[in-house]
Amino acid sequence: MSFQAPKGTFDWLPPTSEQVLAVREALVAPVRRAGYGYIETPVFEDTQLFARGVGESTDIVSKEMYTFPDKAGRSLTLRPENTASVLRAVLQHGLHNGRLPVKLWYSGSQFRYERAQKGRYRHFWQVGAEALGAEDPALDAELVVLGVQGFAALGLTRVRLLLNSLGDRACRPAYRAALQEFLRGLDLDADTRARIEINPLRVLDDKRPEVQAQLTGAPLVVDHLCAACKAYHEEVRSLLTASGVAFEDDPRLVRGLDYYTRTTFEFVHDGLGSQSAVGGGGRYDGLSEMLGGPPLPSVGWALGVDRTYLAMEAEGLLAGDTAARLQVYGVALGDDARRRMFLLVDELRRAGVNTDMAFGGKGLKGAMKGAGRSGARFALILGERDLAAQAVQLKDLTTAEQTEVPLAQVVDVLKGKVQ
Ligand code: HAM
Repeated sequence: MSFQAPKGTFDWLPPTSEQVLAVREALVAPVRRAGYGYIETPVFEDTQLFARGVGESTDIVSKEMYTFPDKAGRSLTLRPENTASVLRAVLQHGLHNGRLPVKLWYSGSQFRYERAQKGRYRHFWQVGAEALGAEDPALDAELVVLGVQGFAALGLTRVRLLLNSLGDRACRPAYRAALQEFLRGLDLDADTRARIEINPLRVLDDKRPEVQAQLTGAPLVVDHLCAACKAYHEEVRSLLTASGVAFEDDPRLVRGLDYYTRTTFEFVHDGLGSQSAVGGGGRYDGLSEMLGGPPLPSVGWALGVDRTYLAMEAEGLLAGDTAARLQVYGVALGDDARRRMFLLVDELRRAGVNTDMAFGGKGLKGAMKGAGRSGARFALILGERDLAAQAVQLKDLTTAEQTEVPLAQVVDVLKGKVQ
């Protein structure tokens, strides 16, 4: 083998790839029903969009971006996430000047130079939904409910919802100061000490046991919320409860991106080991201003398609084959018969019958083997003699029964049989 897919990437191949498509569709179906419109943005953007939007001090920006100069010397970055791009597009096209909130969904590749392991890739797929330009706890609750519905539609039963609030401009600074004071008193390495000064919330997310052990008494953001944030959070919680959505309050949930304010949440699956987050999101009321736009309070989530697939595997939900099954397979012998079969196959497909044919000039034996392997129920066999008689042999591959059908009638006959 001369080439391999780059480290941390992989190929989705049939039939698994069909199941991934089905996962993607199931996850976005609820948001499409809720009035979210499809948006597609470029896979690369101005590097500064992510530096400013996601945050200079996050791992994503400081360690994981695929950044490169283009031929004119612009610094571009393959998108590590899609929220900043969606907001950029909304501002660029003035969508926020129309009806609010602007509701959008997306589906696509994201790129992060992470340490590759099962469930953590350098090229992965997300579907996401963003509601921009409204501050309303019902909107936060709506998105969470729609995420829950997506996972439920796939049959997943072991997805848990973790919920937190990170406060806002009014209360976050005092919490940050209290957290910094606590962290400065701990026994930490130089890098982590530096992080206390730049981004203390990130320290709470440190997975190392020796760090976690020292964090037990750390001040929690929920204890420092201002009255407005507390009321907002309570409303989100009670709407979720009223909707019958189970959630766990997780006061240590901080997320890996800097733009969050107030509501933050994560969907985790217990069958996935350390890479347990199958989705996450929250409110990002300040992001528009960080990118030079007007105030545009917004909320959204992104769900990991690859990890959701792994979660389905962990729950044994991947048994069914979702590929469009072939129904008819054409076998032609001789050049004239092959030309006629080419047209017949096209006619059958137009009539809605899933059809393929033997290519590559195989003999009858090889072509019939192909018919057997194709999974189709019927084979259509057309020899020179059949062609002269304007007929075709129709073979039911499950019973081996063979009948002759006039060429002029075969499309109707097959339409009747495959329905
Ligand atoms: P995120 O938590 O960084 O959030 O990613 C969302 C989901 O993408 C994760 O929960 C996970 O399922 C999947 N994911 C992330 N990194 C990887 C990886 N290396 N390999 C496989 N899957 C991965 C965001 O991206 C935010 N933009 C979400 C958001 C939207 N917040 C507001 N709006």
